[in-house]
Amino acid sequence: MHSDSVSSISTRQRQDLLTAACEARQHAYAPYSSYAVGAAILAKNGAIYTGVNVENASYGLSICAERSAVFKMVSDGVREILAVAVCTENGGSPCGACRQVLAEFSADIPVFLLDIHGNVRETTLYTLLPDHFGPEHLP
Ligand code: THU
Repeated sequence: MHSDSVSSISTRQRQDLLTAACEARQHAYAPYSSYAVGAAILAKNGAIYTGVNVENASYGLSICAERSAVFKMVSDGVREILAVAVCTENGGSPCGACRQVLAEFSADIPVFLLDIHGNVRETTLYTLLPDHFGPEHLP
């Protein structure tokens, strides 16, 4: 999906999203990396879908928090993302795989990167993933 401008959300939606990401982080299952991640998606229907990283003893099977949240949203029949927040101990940015999966269901949405001290960095999905591969590239 493409749009020229970054979508805007209300102050209340923003605060709820940031809170949801950091609350979700408490449920991260990260016994191998000890790097807990919580993600929250504001969906087009107004609902917030959260996700956490879920690691596995077979390391490669681990899933990131952002993709957990996207898959939860899609499983609920919802396919449009308005904003994303990610909460980590140090404000880490979404990995490339998660950026691509977010782009499947998003325009140039706001992305909020939080740390556990309450610092927030705001960026956008297309800043993080310019010129991404999309359905228009498929023959
Ligand atoms: N992780 C995420 O959940 N999201 C990202 O975008 C980057 C990395 C997780 C995967 C793994 O469980 C841990 O952080 C360390 O890489």
